[in-house]
Amino acid sequence: MIKSVIKGIGRYVPENIVTNEDLSKRMNTNDEWITERTGIKERRHRKNRNDSEETTAFLGFKASEIALKNAELSAKDIDYIIFATLSPDYYFPGCGVLLQEMLGCETIGALDVRNQCSGFIYAMSVANAFIKSGIYKNILVAASEIHSFGLDFSDEGRGVSVIFGDGAGAVVLSATEDENAGDILAVNMHSEGKFAEELCTKFPGSKFGWSDRMRREPENVTNKEVYPIMNGNFVFKHAVTRFPETMLEALNSAGKTVEDLDMFIPHQANLRISQFVQQKMGLPDEKVFNNIQKYGNTTAASIPIALSEATEQGKIKRGDLVLLSAFGSGFTWGSVLLRF
Ligand code: COA
Repeated sequence: MIKSVIKGIGRYVPENIVTNEDLSKRMNTNDEWITERTGIKERRHRKNRNDSEETTAFLGFKASEIALKNAELSAKDIDYIIFATLSPDYYFPGCGVLLQEMLGCETIGALDVRNQCSGFIYAMSVANAFIKSGIYKNILVAASEIHSFGLDFSDEGRGVSVIFGDGAGAVVLSATEDENAGDILAVNMHSEGKFAEELCTKFPGSKFGWSDRMRREPENVTNKEVYPIMNGNFVFKHAVTRFPETMLEALNSAGKTVEDLDMFIPHQANLRISQFVQQKMGLPDEKVFNNIQKYGNTTAASIPIALSEATEQGKIKRGDLVLLSAFGSGFTWGSVLLRF
């Protein structure tokens, strides 16, 4: 039987640290408000907001290089790329092809996944299906975001811009028939499109006009269209309901219980959401990994960044039962339960 094992993991974040104190110099906010509501103390922003080199694909490339080294594989060994992001280098094409070129892979397939905070879960689910069906042997799953170029750092945008940060994570998912190796035991994915506008960026999009409006009437394109908007309270309430649902679904379908878990890595949306879910599920502190304090919400990249840090710190070992879950814009949510 073919199993899907995580062979290598990598992460890369820009060097530039932006503290809550730094943000309070740019807008009317403060460390106390941000810490109390989100748990975030600092995040990374690429140094130059308009940098054309330190892009989303570039961050994904740096994380992928580390994941490949960690897996003891070369770019030529990869037979498929899946790239999850909501902040691509171009409106089109997606970042997958850019990563293929940067790494020097063969002319393999490169798929882009647009599922925002759930992007990594969706990407891993697709990778797992390709591996289990015997189609591909080594799939590179990269997730990367540059949020800092597209946030509203005026007072109007402060409820959103303090939350998000830049960063990337990547894993190599490989086929194996080794009975002692890890495997993906369960996946689930969900969506509820009626809430699309509760957390979204409208522009550029076919619904709200694009080049014509920008050319003819740029002054009428508002902050609410070009920057992300979020109904924070609404998102919070749905997140704390959907997280436990998808977690239990994954555990049940693999015949496992919460007690069997060695580690839970939630998408790093907000420390308060993670703590709420942890409490609801009855998980002890040592079985939940959070690092949002240092990176903010890096959307699709948050789970692989956390996975990378948790393994590096020895908090996840080979053979551990690990649950990854996410909720976000769409709304979309889902889980991957794996034996590491
Ligand atoms: N600094 C200081 N004050 C701020 C602020 C900031 N960065 N952002 C908003 N405020 C103000 C608001 O203007 C409002 O002021 P008012 O009462 O005078 O009108 C007040 O703080 C409360 O705003 P509100 O939006 O009701 O706060 P909240 O308690 O709902 O917290 C979030 C806001 C975003 C932290 C919270 O709703 C949340 O965490 N939601 C989930 C979001 C999330 O996780 N998104 C990721 C997607 S997966």
